[in-house]
Amino acid sequence: MRWLVTGAAGMLGRDVVAALADDDDVVALDRHALDLRDAAAVDARVRDVDVVVNCAAYTAVDAAEQDEATAFAVNAVGAANLARAAARAGARIVHVSTDYVFDGDADTPYAPDHPPAPRSAYGRTKAAGEWAVRAHHPDHLVVRTAWLYGAGGACFPRTIARLAAERGGVDVVADQVGQPTWTRDLADYLVALVRAGAPAGTWHGTSSGACSWFDLAREVVASAGLDPDLVRPTTSDAFARPAPRPAWSVLSHDGSPVPPIGDWRERWRAAAAEVLGQESRPSSSSPSR
Ligand SMILES: NC(=O)c1ccc[n+]([C@@H]2O[C@H](COP(=O)([O-])OP(=O)(O)OC[C@H]3O[C@@H](n4cnc5c(N)ncnc54)[C@H](OP(=O)(O)O)[C@@H]3O)[C@@H](O)[C@H]2O)c1
Repeated sequence: MRWLVTGAAGMLGRDVVAALADDDDVVALDRHALDLRDAAAVDARVRDVDVVVNCAAYTAVDAAEQDEATAFAVNAVGAANLARAAARAGARIVHVSTDYVFDGDADTPYAPDHPPAPRSAYGRTKAAGEWAVRAHHPDHLVVRTAWLYGAGGACFPRTIARLAAERGGVDVVADQVGQPTWTRDLADYLVALVRAGAPAGTWHGTSSGACSWFDLAREVVASAGLDPDLVRPTTSDAFARPAPRPAWSVLSHDGSPVPPIGDWRERWRAAAAEVLGQESRPSSSSPSR
């Protein structure tokens, strides 16, 4: 099978390319090789492939509040460009989306067909991207994920481990609940959907179970060999950010065509050495996407 991966230098993109490395033909394109906003370039590159995996996105959630047009150009128009080109090329498209398309007011897990109601500019542009992909290409797999961490990018666990060590304590919000998900697990899930011939539709690619950022931070700090009590609980009100985050964004895996990703804590423990083993890039102390 011949695959084309966009956003290949991103945190997820790197792991998707790695997941395909052994036995597939992969065209891996970073933003410099293919900018999704350039419809002509997208048309020219999406040829002679069987599957397109879109890992490219404008992911600066807070910055998007002041720059929604740029976020929309990538997350909605860019996704439309890619879906149209994939349809013309006769390739399936796997498009990655986010729990931020939901408002976070639910108290039972969001089903894939639950109506989106984004609260942030980023969430609006990602919801628009989902609709664009569905509208332009019937053979789509729209896969929502959440709270990603991985070795290939700045992420919450790496930042928290660094801050706990440097500052001897860190405040982390305890009133946002979600599903921390390893990029390697999501990459495997996306590839498994395609290999299983999953029907077109919308699926949820997140770890099972749920926790707060505070819960995750305690696990992370323990994995880093530090005292989990270095993590202190705080609230979203006390830690105001430009973009509102869903308070409770737990995604349901009911009906998943392939086995869902395992429990968040067990998956974190499997991932910890790899994710924490690299130098952290500078970033803020709070979840960003
Ligand atoms: N991270 C999370 O917690 C999270 C949660 C839910 C959903 N998601 C979704 O998961 C997917 C992967 O996210 P990620 O965490 O891997 O993000 P990431 O590390 O920021 O990677 C995104 C990649 O897209 C590239 N890109 C930006 N604008 C582009 C454009 N116009 N054309 C082509 N490429 C462009 C970026 O390149 P530059 O760096 O050079 O700009 C970057 O390499 C995205 O769809 C995101 O919305 C992420």
